[in-house]
Amino acid sequence: MKKIGVLTSGGDAPGMNAAIRAIVRAGIYNNIEVMGVSRGYEGLINGEIKHMDVSSVADIIHKGGTILKTARSEQFKTEEGRKKAINVLEVFGIEGLVIIGGDGSFRGAEKLSEAGVKTIGIPGTIDNDLPYSEFTIGFDTAVNTVLDAITKIRDTSTSHEKATIIEVMGRHCGDIALYSGLAGGAESVLVPEEEFDINDVCKKLVQGKSRGKLHNIIMLAEGTSDAYELQKEIFERVGIEARVTVLGFIQRGGNPSSFDRILASKMGAYAIDALINGKSSRALGIKNNKIFDMDIAEALTMEKQFDSDTYQLTNILSI
Ligand code: F6P
Repeated sequence: MKKIGVLTSGGDAPGMNAAIRAIVRAGIYNNIEVMGVSRGYEGLINGEIKHMDVSSVADIIHKGGTILKTARSEQFKTEEGRKKAINVLEVFGIEGLVIIGGDGSFRGAEKLSEAGVKTIGIPGTIDNDLPYSEFTIGFDTAVNTVLDAITKIRDTSTSHEKATIIEVMGRHCGDIALYSGLAGGAESVLVPEEEFDINDVCKKLVQGKSRGKLHNIIMLAEGTSDAYELQKEIFERVGIEARVTVLGFIQRGGNPSSFDRILASKMGAYAIDALINGKSSRALGIKNNKIFDMDIAEALTMEKQFDSDTYQLTNILSI
């Protein structure tokens, strides 16, 4: 293998830059030329490709976002779009492609590999929703960012003796809400994976108030319930006003944590080794602190196991 490409696709995640850096440097170390594809699959179709050298990835390990930019490509979902992308790869002489992204990006990688392109998928998403891997790059940073927000919100909600609903991202996965909720001492954690009873949420609010609690934090994962509907319902049931804070893009930005930088560096280097060893259509993951690879198609058919023990623990500790 002489020349490979790297792209980031879907929602950006802190640590993507550290992964790009590792791919470029481990590639150069192994005498492989690395081409950076801008704007994900969309940029690939449009031939937005440039040679990367050691310096092009200098001073990025600590930065959030992705220097390659990212996009969600509708064109690439079509047969015609993918044909264009494959032609571009041929024109540039790119033999292998490392895709950093989430499940949608992996689906794209699977399609390319079916057409004979050697692909390796690196899980990069704040959502932690890839079932085959214990962690995805960006999740740890996002949880820490949310935790920082909870801590700040707690200061003001305690001062004003208010309840707060904090809506976090995660698409269909409640992991960000769950882990930041546990670490932040939230009273209620509402996630799409577990049905919740509004009366339980209200009971905690009332009981907390009666024993002199100055705040009440309700973590709400997007995709569970509408934050403003929930606010309304709480007020109607127990007359308590809860402030809504939607954290939004704050969660996707910021300097990656040490965990994400290390995970990204290890996975980037692993991707190069995998391509050198002739592997293709492989998804990289981490289990018991060890990086492994598995068939992308199989990884995509797996179902995410919700961490119900941790969920249970949030309930026990917030009585
Ligand atoms: O997948 C990352 C993510 O931030 C999800 O948590 C969220 O649902 C989605 O992307 C938002 O996507 P967009 O930035 O396209 O609105």
